[in-house]
Parts: sequence; structure tokens; C-alpha cells
Amino acid sequence: MSGRPGSNRRHSAWKADALPTELLPHFSFNNLRLNLLELNLNIKIVKSNKLLNLRSKILRNNMNPSKCIFRGDDNKTSFHIGAYIDGILVGGVSIIKNKCSYKDFPNCYQLRGLFVDFNHQKKGIGKMIIEKVESLLKNKKVNYLWMNARVKALDFYLKLNYTNSEITYNMNEIGLHYMLYKKL
Ligand SMILES: CC(C)(COP(=O)(O)OP(=O)(O)OC[C@H]1O[C@@H](n2cnc3c(N)ncnc32)[C@H](O)[C@@H]1OP(=O)(O)O)[C@@H](O)C(=O)NCCC(=O)NCCS
Repeated sequence: MSGRPGSNRRHSAWKADALPTELLPHFSFNNLRLNLLELNLNIKIVKSNKLLNLRSKILRNNMNPSKCIFRGDDNKTSFHIGAYIDGILVGGVSIIKNKCSYKDFPNCYQLRGLFVDFNHQKKGIGKMIIEKVESLLKNKKVNYLWMNARVKALDFYLKLNYTNSEITYNMNEIGLHYMLYKKL
């Protein structure tokens, strides 16, 4: 009876990969991974112009995409990540080598314009994008990543172990933001 599927033991020695799909809801981590595999998610570096339409839709209330370009988007030191499902862009972010205006972080980058398309939110895609970014920055020996996070996204970043500086910034039309950061 030890740890067999269907038994009452919560911590099973069974490998979740070997379990029939219908038994996986008991294993939240593997369930998430399975869902992402089912989604056929591909996270890769892209050019900034690939992100403009969804940046506009998700972050700028459908403003003309040509007006959704960030200062520094095309700097040689910037890079951009796109998340694709079956070849269709569903998420993205821009990483720009900007000094933090509020704190003197040595060797830092700013995260800007993180989005996941509405019908794909809360599936783990945003988290995977951030993990990809952090891994790329660590490889570049970058020390800090910081961002101005809108209030609605605060808990998302806190769950990913970002620190809230409690420094606020009011962005026209979009509202209050908090400066968050992480030492990588
Ligand atoms: C914020 C955003 C990027 C998160 O991406 P996502 O793919 O939906 O998030 P994930 O599914 O990877 O979530 C990871 C965890 O954070 C939680 N989370 C996600 N969004 C959250 C939110 N807005 N508030 C609180 N928790 C949130 C999830 O429930 C999940 O928690 P769990 O690990 O305990 O299950 C996405 O919701 C989005 O694009 N929102 C609109 C644009 C936006 O606000 N961008 C941020 C600009 S600063």
C-alpha cells in the first residue's frame, strides 16, 4: 500500500512521470510541467518588433504599436524574450541595460514590458519567462535585475522572490508602480 496511486498517502515514492494522466492532479508541480509540455511552449530570444502588437494589447490598452517602443529597445546590450505556443507569440519581455534611478545597483538590467496574452495567463508562462531571463543574466554575470511593477503584478513578482523597495513611481495612464529588484 505504500504510496500507490489511489492510496491516501500524500507523499508518494512513485515517479509522477510514470503515472496515468488522470492521477496527476495529485502532483501539482508535475501537473504544471505536463500542462506546459502539452502547450508546446517555446521560449526564445526575439527582436523587439515581434513584441509590439502584444505589448500594445496587453500593456498599453491597444495603443498604436509603433508608439509602444521602449527607449533602449534596440540597444546592442538589450535583449527580448518571446514565448510561443505552436509558433504563435503568447508572452514576452524586454531586458534593457539601464541604471536604476532609485538605487545604486552595480551591474544591473531593467526588466520592462512583461506580458502574457490574456487567454494564457496563470498557466506558468510568466514564471518560465522570468526564469529564462534570470538564467541568461546570470550567465552574463549580471548582479541585479530591477523593474517598475504595476500594482496588479506585485504578488506575481513577490512569489518569484523579488524584493519590494517600496519606492513608488506613477506612470501616466497606467498608474502606480513599485520598484522591485532581485540580486541574481
Ligand atoms: C503578470 C503576468 C505577466 C503573470 O504571468 P502569468 O503567466 O499569468 O503568471 P504565472 O502563471 O507564471 O504565475 C506564477 C505564479 O504567480 C501567480 N500570479 C500570476 N499573476 C498574478 C497576479 N496578477 N497576482 C497575484 N499572483 C499572480 C500565479 O498564481 C502563480 O502562483 P503559484 O506559483 O502559487 O501557482 C501576466 O498575468 C500578465 O501579463 N498580466 C498583465 C500584464 C502585466 O501586468 N504585466 C506586468 C507588468 S509590471
